[in-house]
Amino acid sequence: MGTCYITRRETFNAAHKLWREDWSQEKNDEVFGKCSNHNWHGHNFILFVTVKGLPNPDTGFVINLKELSQIIKELIIEPLDHKNMNLDVPFLRDILASTENLVIEMWKILEKPIYLAGGELAKIKLIETENNFVEYFGGKEPF
Ligand code: NI
Repeated sequence: MGTCYITRRETFNAAHKLWREDWSQEKNDEVFGKCSNHNWHGHNFILFVTVKGLPNPDTGFVINLKELSQIIKELIIEPLDHKNMNLDVPFLRDILASTENLVIEMWKILEKPIYLAGGELAKIKLIETENNFVEYFGGKEPF
């Protein structure tokens, strides 16, 4: 019996802007383009959290997906959904709200609770637009 990778999908929407206070308006515009818009813009994000492990012989599950969903909803979706990421979200305070930085912060939050639920966090994928998404493997090599 080999390792399985199981994924839970969740969604949220949130506003942000990509902006550095220590840069001029011109530099922010040059680097971040439309994403630096002063009065924010929003995305409908789609989050995929992948957990790996051996299926439990009693349940056949790597991790109980209901439990995984509860962990993601409580720790990630609730703080983010319908919020301004630059202003409202404690775990993003003082962090540039790029999709890359988002998944890195999500990893730090989810890794231990998922471990305590019996799984090992393997990948976080976050889709920002239909053309842009990020995948993160926790600093390890992908698969
Ligand atoms: Ni954006």
